[in-house]
Amino acid sequence: MRHVMSRLLALALLALCALGLAGCAAKAPGTAQSALVVGFSQLGSESGWRIGNTASMEQAAERWGFGLMMDNANQRQDKQIAAIRSFISYQVDVIVFSPIVETGWTNVLTEAKKAGIPVIIMDRMIETDDDGLYTAYIGADFLAEGRRAGEYLLKKADAMGAEHLNVVEITGTEESTPMRERQAGFMQAVDGDVRISVIERVSGDFLRSKGEECMRYLLKKYGADGIDVVYSHNDEMTLGALDVLEAAGINPGKDIVLISVDGQQEAVDALKEGRINCIVECTPDLGENVMRMVDALSRGEEIPKQNHPEETVFTEFDDLSGLAPRGY
Ligand code: AHR
Repeated sequence: MRHVMSRLLALALLALCALGLAGCAAKAPGTAQSALVVGFSQLGSESGWRIGNTASMEQAAERWGFGLMMDNANQRQDKQIAAIRSFISYQVDVIVFSPIVETGWTNVLTEAKKAGIPVIIMDRMIETDDDGLYTAYIGADFLAEGRRAGEYLLKKADAMGAEHLNVVEITGTEESTPMRERQAGFMQAVDGDVRISVIERVSGDFLRSKGEECMRYLLKKYGADGIDVVYSHNDEMTLGALDVLEAAGINPGKDIVLISVDGQQEAVDALKEGRINCIVECTPDLGENVMRMVDALSRGEEIPKQNHPEETVFTEFDDLSGLAPRGY
């Protein structure tokens, strides 16, 4: 009886959402009785990537005819935990969430497990020894992304005939998977190459405004002559840094090498204009695969535990004239 009441409450909430009367995004399910309900905790709206990812989830849920109960946590882990708890009490069919940081999820995921609700972790990962706490993970291979950034830099150093390059790194949100692994992968690629020195790392939290702040600080400290390369963990921060460099009369892409991650349209345009040198792709378009997994779970099928989308790298050395619009 409790289960039926919770489901009815969830469907009623979805109906309210559809009318814009509740604080969540929702798509009306195909048929109120049978449609699957997905509880989705998005971590925020900090970047073009994130906004594209949210749109991908909403559009895919609509295509599949699933109800999407979405909560945007605006960068707060406590809000994500509260949202997941509310999805548990509504007895949604599947919980999907993108964890802002890696630790602190054990209790709430144990509660979801006890309630028998499958959990798909999307985009970022959690740190745990107990992989029974989630059903599947889908997201980028962030370590490979970092390695691609480092491999590009070695190729660039060869092309420049450089003897030494001072790198500054603008990192993403502390303790998040992309921050940790993009840094580690980059170091794996450049480690042992005496030409490359990372002289400072500063956190820009994946935000354009903080990318600007970081670049101002780094320029003041090292001057344009003291920095050869900026490696930034996402396009938003890169675009912020780029504005600061140009305002200071420095030519990004020429005087200073810019390496970025994501591939949002604005950054790809800057790459084509020669103002960014390399963008490692990270795709936000995960919604379709997530909903396919939800569908498979609802049929009682097994799904692979670890799922990485295919990604590439766009650089100044490539012909980008045929590159399709990025869509975000
Ligand atoms: O977790 C993926 C990262 O988060 C993206 O690279 C970044 O733009 C976003 O904010």
